[in-house]
Formats: sequence, structure tokens, C-alpha cells
Amino acid sequence: MRTQVAIIGAGPAGLLLGQLLSRAGIDNIILERSSADHVLSRVRAGVLEGGTVALLDEAGCADRLHAEGLVHNGIEIAFSGECHRIDLKRHSGRSVTVYGQTEVTRDLMEARAALGRPTIYEAANVELHEFDTAAPYVTFTREDITERIDADFIAGCDGFHGISRRSVPTAAFSVFERVYPFGWLGVLADVPPAADELIYARHARGFALCSMRSPTRSRYYIQTDAADKVEMWTDDAFWDELRRRVPADAADRVVTGPSLEKSMAQLRSFVAEPMRFGRLFLCGDAAHIVPPTGAKGLNLAASDVHYLFGAIRDYFDSRSEAALDTYSARALARVWKAERFSWWMTAALHNLPEQGAFGERLQIAELDYLTHSDAAASVLAENYVGLPY
Ligand code: APR
Ligand code: PHB
Repeated sequence: MRTQVAIIGAGPAGLLLGQLLSRAGIDNIILERSSADHVLSRVRAGVLEGGTVALLDEAGCADRLHAEGLVHNGIEIAFSGECHRIDLKRHSGRSVTVYGQTEVTRDLMEARAALGRPTIYEAANVELHEFDTAAPYVTFTREDITERIDADFIAGCDGFHGISRRSVPTAAFSVFERVYPFGWLGVLADVPPAADELIYARHARGFALCSMRSPTRSRYYIQTDAADKVEMWTDDAFWDELRRRVPADAADRVVTGPSLEKSMAQLRSFVAEPMRFGRLFLCGDAAHIVPPTGAKGLNLAASDVHYLFGAIRDYFDSRSEAALDTYSARALARVWKAERFSWWMTAALHNLPEQGAFGERLQIAELDYLTHSDAAASVLAENYVGLPY
């Protein structure tokens, strides 16, 4: 097979890039190792920056997002038994949209199918070849037959554990990483949310987050030890611990119910530099991971796609390589700002094992300053709604 862009991975990064390229008349094939159902079965975050919404609009698949997404103009920061609202709209002039990543992925899959563009699911043994030449190609097996795709470019959108970054000699890139000594236990339940906006709670027992997917479906998280296993937490134990960590009035509004999904996530900050190796371009989790505290994972994948789509379109429009040559630097500049913000939110709101009593006081002072200073609240607000591309 021959195409202009071979995309590895049908997560939000790969699907969004594929949709934008297809609508620009640039041929592309997506290779995904799992089935479509498996891709859709993953429960991930769901807070979209304005830039991500604009890209989904440009990709022509934001109708359901606009119909069902919840526009939020603020978030709550809770500590010392009280909630404090950060007015995102007042401080940044912008808002965020609460709409599950699973729904974004579903909308992108349906839009791609509607365009009749090829996605090869359950593509096994994907391998990348000669991306240091002008004629890269990808091989994979399907029903035990090895197939080949020749392309002008390869987009590695295959996530943290994907083959793309692993195909690059380690000497060719630098890794920057911080692994946090705690995890998040998340529960999805068909219960009404405890509040109209998200509550980020700092508590001596650990962090907690009250989020939602719709007026009838909620998503909650609590900080746990990194070694904890999901089996160690019954639903009741989860609800009890959540209620201990949020202010009393919010705890009273928490409606409990059976968990539809319950999963543990390790918290990590990770960046691989650069994000381009010849004709191979990395996007999204394939190049960087943020702790979920700042809700930046999906939004960073989208901004990478914004830069890469523009660069590839310029190339096929005018054979200009200028934007391709600066893709990595431009994407990484925004990635590092989101890494900084996500690390800061994590450090400000989690129980850090080594912080001690002095550290706890500093955390509370930081949150007290944040919730009583317009200058500090504006810094959080402009980062939370998304820095410009
Ligand atoms: N061959 C083909 N496909 C692969 C391979 C491989 N060797 N390895 C992984 N994949 C697929 C995965 O099955 C997955 O569907 O690549 C896709 C990568 O998708 P994501 O992990 O969702 O990554 P990305 O599209 O960059 O989206 C980033 O996802 O994890 C969240 O918080 C993160 O919100 C962020 C978003
Ligand atoms: C979620 O709704 O899953 C969510 C929201 C905000 C975050 C992380 C996760 O910071």
C-alpha cells in the first residue's frame, strides 16, 4: 500500500490528525493494534481546552460535543474544610468543556468511517522502517500475512508504550522523567455529580477530585499509595474515603452508587526530546506524559496535532519543510509549560510523603494565596483553560 502519512495508533492523537489530514485532502492510513471496541473501552479524563474544541470543530466532529459537553467557567479548590471557586472566565476570559475522552474518540472514529478513510484495527507487529530516509515504510501483520505501507511521513501516535518511540535509537533522544510515589484510584458511577463544577481537594489524608461526565454520570478520584491495587478498594471504602477528604457540605452532596469502572493510575511526568526523527514525528503520549491533575493529557495530544497537521499541510501545499523542521521545538515549548503546570497542580494538592509538617503548612499557604489573590488565580486560570498555541 502507499499513502502520504502512515499514522500509528487510533487514540485521540492519531484519529484527530487523520481527520484533519483527510479533510485537507492528504491521504493517510491508521494502524491500530487493538480493536475499535477496546480503544473505546478505556476510561480517560474529560476536560477540553478551548483550543482542543476549536480543532475538533475544524475536524468537523464537534456537534455532539457542543450538544452534550458541559461548559465550565470555574473550578473549586478545597482545603482546610472549605471550597474556594476560581473564576476561570473572569481571570482568563475563557472556559473549558467537560466531555469524556471516550466520547471524543468515538466521534473521531465515526467521522473517519463517514469519510471512508482506512483504519486497520488489530494490526499486529507494527514495525517502522527507514524513517531516516525520504522513503519510510511500515510493516505489520494481519491474519498472519505481512503487509507493507510506503509513506512520505510516519506519525507516531501510539502512546507511551507504543512502538514508534521505541523504534528510535535511545542515543538519539533525551528523556526527562519524574515518577510520583502515589497513584490515583478512579471510579465512574451513574450518580449525579456532587457539584456543578470540578472540585480539586487537598487533604491531610490525600488528594481527591470530584468530576463528571454528564448531569447523571460522575467521575471521582482519590490519591492512594502507588502500591495499592484496585482489589484492595471496595466501592464503600472508596466512597467513605472520598467523603473524608472533601469539605463537609460537598461530602453531604456526594451520591454514591455501584462503580461502572474502577481503575488505578500511576502518576508520572515524562518528556522525550526531540519529537522528530527524520520522517518520523511523535505526537501525544508517544512523546510525553503528564500527571492527570492539570487535565492536560488529551489537550497536549491535540496541540501536537495542531502543529504537525499544519507542518504536513505546508509541505504538501508548497514542499516547504520550514514548519516540519520547527515542529519539535514548537510542540515541546508548549509541552513543557503544561508539564510545569501539571507538576505544580500535583505538588500543590497531593499529600507528598517527604513534605513533613513544614511542607504541609507551605501547601496550605500556597492554596490560601491562590484563592485570595487575583494575580495567582489568573496564573492558574490561563494555564487551566489552555495556553495559546
Ligand atoms: N501498533 C499499533 N497501535 C499501537 C501500538 C502499536 N505497536 N502501540 C500502541 N498502539 C495504540 C494503542 O492501542 C492506542 O489506541 O496507539 C493508541 C495510543 O493512544 P493513546 O494512548 O490514547 O495516546 P494519544 O492518542 O497520544 O492520546 C493521549 O490519551 O492516555 C491519554 O492522558 C492521555 O489523554 C491523553 C491521551
Ligand atoms: C476527569 O474528569 O476524568 C478528570 C478531570 C480533571 C482532571 C483529571 C481527570 O484534572
